[in-house]
Amino acid sequence: MKFSWTNIDRPIVALAPMEGYTDSAFRQLVKLYAPSVICFTEFTSADALKYNSKVSKNKINIDPLEQPVIVQLFGKHPDHFVEAAKQAEAMGAVAIDINMGCPAKKVIASKHGSALLKNPDLATEIVHNLVQNTSLDVSVKTRLGFSEFNEKYFYSFCKNLAQAGAKLLTIHGRTTRQGYSGKANWEPIYKLKERLNIPIIGNGDIDSPKTAIERLKNLDGIMVGRATFGNPLIMKHIYEAFYPEKTSTAPLPSLFELAKKHIDLSIKTKGEKRAMLEMRKHLAMYFKGFPHAASYRNRLVRVSTQDEAMKLINEIEENSLI
Ligand SMILES: Cc1cc2nc3c(=O)[nH]c(=O)nc-3n(C[C@H](O)[C@H](O)[C@H](O)COP(=O)(O)O)c2cc1C
Repeated sequence: MKFSWTNIDRPIVALAPMEGYTDSAFRQLVKLYAPSVICFTEFTSADALKYNSKVSKNKINIDPLEQPVIVQLFGKHPDHFVEAAKQAEAMGAVAIDINMGCPAKKVIASKHGSALLKNPDLATEIVHNLVQNTSLDVSVKTRLGFSEFNEKYFYSFCKNLAQAGAKLLTIHGRTTRQGYSGKANWEPIYKLKERLNIPIIGNGDIDSPKTAIERLKNLDGIMVGRATFGNPLIMKHIYEAFYPEKTSTAPLPSLFELAKKHIDLSIKTKGEKRAMLEMRKHLAMYFKGFPHAASYRNRLVRVSTQDEAMKLINEIEENSLI
């Protein structure tokens, strides 16, 4: 059945798109234990896909286990999004999300990501043009505003996206200027939901099943990002808090087993050399609360082979039992 935001279970429990983190291996790891979580890919450049960049194509690497996967694109040229969406669809995307929230300086300097918050006409045109030229559902992920939250501006920006055909909005409760500082403000997201007739996912600072349940209120779903670092099982715990009847009684892997599985999946998708470089940051996070964490961290961020990583993980496990 064709994926549609209107006919999936509520509340939606989504893994946030996170560049450098939520690659295919990480998404597979999450889905192994929380099969109903919805995953977004890391953002991929619509321009690069349009010009057939191999690196960008390799980035959209989707395993059937991860489905349904929403591919997130960033850019500013309406027609490039259409071309990029075609390619993403051919690679397994069931829907397209447009990034209008990235605060990175480089991204904004190119007028991509959250720079679109300052250009509502172009933002609307991008959505409208893509909706007219793809059969996939189109959604947008954005923030409360660029420099500040202005209620009138924010609602009109979002209303225009909905009128242009966006089937869902994800709102991170911060402005671009805030980056990741301060506390996410969910109040404007609840108010937006009262005013718009499309599904809305809220995002920002969810770090436990308890906060996920408290934040949901009138929304259609919640999205979790940084709390999954070194703790992908949090998605399972959050999902099961919303759907207790679907709680799995299968034994859970230890952090050691999880980290090893993550390495396996990463090597399968990227090859050992690249996988091990990219796994370093994840490994440091898996074991950050362990005894002698600082000295292990130093070694974890230097591993370059699977064998080396496995030996080190075994050593951490043995020492944690003493
Ligand atoms: C390392 C990192 C990479 C991110 N990459 C993306 C991205 O590619 N696309 C996007 O829309 N948001 C991206 N984000 C933002 C997250 O999706 C999310 O909105 C933000 O982290 C707030 O949610 P959280 O408090 O649950 O982490 C990124 C965040 C982090 C920390």
